[in-house]
Amino acid sequence: MSHKVTLIPGDGIGPEVAAAARRAVDATGVRIEWEVAELNADVIAKAGTSLPAHVLESLERTHVGLKGPVTTPVGGGYTSVNVALRKKLDLFANVRPVRSMPGLGTRFDDVKIDMVIFRENTEDLYSGLEHEVVKDVVTSLKVITRVASINIAEYAFAYAEKAGRKKVAAIHKANIMKLADGLFLRCCREVAARHPHIEYKELIVDNAAMQLVVRPETFDILLLPNLYGDIVSDLAAGLVGGLGMVPGANMGEKDAVFEAVHGSAPDIAGKGIANPTAMMLSSSLMLFHLQEPEAAARLQQAVEKVYAGGKHTTPDVGGSGTTAGFTDAVIAAMR
Ligand code: NAI
Ligand code: MG
Repeated sequence: MSHKVTLIPGDGIGPEVAAAARRAVDATGVRIEWEVAELNADVIAKAGTSLPAHVLESLERTHVGLKGPVTTPVGGGYTSVNVALRKKLDLFANVRPVRSMPGLGTRFDDVKIDMVIFRENTEDLYSGLEHEVVKDVVTSLKVITRVASINIAEYAFAYAEKAGRKKVAAIHKANIMKLADGLFLRCCREVAARHPHIEYKELIVDNAAMQLVVRPETFDILLLPNLYGDIVSDLAAGLVGGLGMVPGANMGEKDAVFEAVHGSAPDIAGKGIANPTAMMLSSSLMLFHLQEPEAAARLQQAVEKVYAGGKHTTPDVGGSGTTAGFTDAVIAAMR
């Protein structure tokens, strides 16, 4: 049997890491019919929308996407493709496992980091509802709803039960945003009460940032609204070697789009040195989702084997390897 997957290479380093991940997935032996859907500044300009029809039509057929990063203009220009896609397909849960990679020397090497971030993916300050009240006075609406908060909390607790995890920490700033983050917290508590076997605690986001750096090994599942989830994800990536290391999944009821935490990294695009680990591990999550657990595990273990060998790793993690060289090594490790 083969699976249909929409492959969105994206831009910047996207096409490089997407090609690497595609090669690695194909090397697992799982048969994938890739539908390639280009999505970058040129395509968006031509289509006149950040979500061109060909991308949506493909995902409506396949229900599964593997996506490279897409650049979003800063402080103006078109709205974020990523945010638009997550909202349009209602990919309400952004799931990001953050784990220490054995063999990779980081300054947190003496502790084992193994946490999973559950970030609400559709609302909060990403509603894009901004308004210039009068010249030089702007408001930006933070939207928090009961439906979305319950959904992400349920998703996190259900995962905790299924994966045998012990603790969930809800992260908030309800001391200041008493209504918005207060509602988020009330929803988390309500869901926590339905899962009495999972230890539940709450942390204010600034303190959580400090605790993550000082005691990263004490975190298990993190449950956050959209913006804190975005920021804390990059912080957590920094604990395990950087943005090149951390995969992600955008999960909805019907559809799922797998992508790394990192962006399009324009500073290293086209140089052939982007770290494809995050995209490969995202592909491994995708293979699990496609009910190919054996191939998923094999790909993940092959990546780990390459790190344990200490060769072929890319400059962002202190090596001198290339995207292609690392990919060859992962494929060889799967044989
Ligand atoms: P970024 O994640 O692209 O890069 C931050 C730093 O990490 C850079 O120094 C970069 O070289 C490095 N880095 C990231 N991924 C790497 C990899 N795989 N291998 C080696 N080094 C890596 O974040 P930045 O620069 O803030 O954003 C660039 C663009 O990406 C922006 O337009 C942003 O909107 C977009 N973006 C897109 C995302 C998506 O499509 N899901 C997610 C995050 C950002
Ligand atoms: Mg981000």
